[in-house]
Amino acid sequence: MKLDGYSAIVTGGASGLGAATARALAGAGASVLLADLQDGAALAAELGGAAIRGDVAEPDFAESAVARAVELAPLGVLVNCAGVGSAGRILGRDGPMQLDAYTRVIRVNLIGSFNMLRVAAGAMAKNAPQGSDGERGVIVNTASIAAYDGQVGQAAYASSKAGIVGLTLPAARELARAGIRVVTIAPGLFETPMMMGLPADVQASLGASVPYPPRLGMPAEYAALALHIVANTMLNGETIRLDGALRMAPR
Ligand SMILES: NC(=O)c1ccc[n+]([C@@H]2O[C@H](COP(=O)([O-])OP(=O)(O)OC[C@H]3O[C@@H](n4cnc5c(N)ncnc54)[C@H](O)[C@@H]3O)[C@@H](O)[C@H]2O)c1
Repeated sequence: MKLDGYSAIVTGGASGLGAATARALAGAGASVLLADLQDGAALAAELGGAAIRGDVAEPDFAESAVARAVELAPLGVLVNCAGVGSAGRILGRDGPMQLDAYTRVIRVNLIGSFNMLRVAAGAMAKNAPQGSDGERGVIVNTASIAAYDGQVGQAAYASSKAGIVGLTLPAARELARAGIRVVTIAPGLFETPMMMGLPADVQASLGASVPYPPRLGMPAEYAALALHIVANTMLNGETIRLDGALRMAPR
């Protein structure tokens, strides 16, 4: 899909993978809306776009974000990058995991992604068809390799990301008749604020655990794949691992 004359929403766009993707989409001609709990105004100004603050899991926020994007230009792209990490055992030292801890992660990562997808698809379906394939929009979700290789302590996070993987094909199948594609990226270990909070030696050993290249992924590498997904109309209904062949060990 060509981006000139379209807007693109990037959730979680104020930081990490989302910020890098917002830069790439703006560079490719889209008017970018950063939708994040954090303030993305400075980055939005730099990109000539806009920012809106709120919680992706709230129905009203999805409506407001999509309406704001459509004010910029018809909505062509949604990239769901908003997410939270979590670590906690099902049976910890203090007994079973608090149900709230599990619910919080599912709510932001899975329900938040679906919430934005459903409202964005509604706006995209109203676009004029583009090109010989009649494309109207592209939705890129962010899972994680934890969806497949969840480690001890990742029950909540891995479940939330596996839900996104499971959402991808039925959403692509259903939205096909509207000319809207749905593709998910499952990143391995990337150098973002989520990861930079860890001690340097832990980051180095995590990087070295990647078969090739033996380092953390760069946000620009995630953004490059997101941009390719937008450009390549044949990519649809699939989750793509972006992980340097990393398969995570049980712990
Ligand atoms: N960094 C990695 O190694 C890695 C690996 C696999 C998957 N991921 C996934 O990639 C996505 C981006 O992660 P990142 O590393 O860039 O993290 P990050 O912490 O740098 O960025 C996440 C952004 O999401 C926003 N956010 C959190 N909850 C929100 C909510 N309820 N509503 C709106 N915005 C919210 C945060 O404010 C933040 O700006 C996440 O879904 C994460 O699970 C990251």
